[in-house]
Amino acid sequence: MNQFISVADVSDINGIVKKALAYKADPLKDKSLGLNKRIGLLFLNPSMRTRLSTQIAAQNLGMEAIVFNVGQDGWALEFEEEAIMSGSSVEHVKDAAPILGKYFDILCIRTFPSLKNRDDDYSELYIKQFIKYAGIPVVSLESATLHPLQSLTDIITITETLKGIRRPKIVLTWAPHVKPLPQCVANSFSQWVNAWGEADFVIAHPEDYELHEQFTKGATITQDQDAALKDADYVYVKNWSTFTDYGRIYCNDPGWMMTNEKLQLTNNAKVMHCLPVRRNVELSDEILDGANSIVTQQAANRVWAAQAVLSEVLRNKK
Ligand code: CP
Repeated sequence: MNQFISVADVSDINGIVKKALAYKADPLKDKSLGLNKRIGLLFLNPSMRTRLSTQIAAQNLGMEAIVFNVGQDGWALEFEEEAIMSGSSVEHVKDAAPILGKYFDILCIRTFPSLKNRDDDYSELYIKQFIKYAGIPVVSLESATLHPLQSLTDIITITETLKGIRRPKIVLTWAPHVKPLPQCVANSFSQWVNAWGEADFVIAHPEDYELHEQFTKGATITQDQDAALKDADYVYVKNWSTFTDYGRIYCNDPGWMMTNEKLQLTNNAKVMHCLPVRRNVELSDEILDGANSIVTQQAANRVWAAQAVLSEVLRNKK
């Protein structure tokens, strides 16, 4: 693997899940693999889980990890080709990225979408410019449209909790939120579950919240949340803003929040969320604090997903 920006960079999903679970069982088994290698973690946007889990994963592999908060501490970057830089941006990615490529062996980047211009966001300009100009492997820590480390973690968590279920019913359900959020987690989860192919996958959302078909193709899509939840083994709760009339909140019906009453419709489903979560807006206290929630296990597994990916990139560099 020489980059990790989507499921397309993974040739064997079950294989990488197995690797991640082997790291969970024995975190330091490859503690020399990344010796004398340095990883740069660039954040243009906030993070807790991704930042810390990727640092821990890198350290477990013997790498030195350096975090740089570009959004707060760095020069404002320009990403457009041939830009006349007379505005607020100070340095072009074309100049900055090759330098980062000399400082580091692997470059990891978190960028969020603007949610203002869909074509710009869905062009994935930021991460593509880093790939073009850094000259070293690039790993996405969440981009404008996808969150692949989160999705790998999600498949790992489902795999380790299956307990005899041969083909789980997985439901991705939209939930209300106070702010317009990116479609990244929902796009990425859909892309990974569809590529994995080992589940009956249903996406439930209110009218106007359709995701791009390139990610959802293969899933059953419904606006009837109760029907979707029937007999579900896993319920993944996530808000996203509108894709068609881009980046807006239309319906924000609190009736879409996952509750214990709704859980009764399921096959005693495990409840997932990528976090951070707005309690009693997206998910009720009773669910988050109840026995069916696996959100902490899911977030803890971020380390093993990152470690499996970084180990693949390191092995490819050798
Ligand atoms: N799920 C996730 O990416 O969390 P952070 O934003 O805290 O990294």
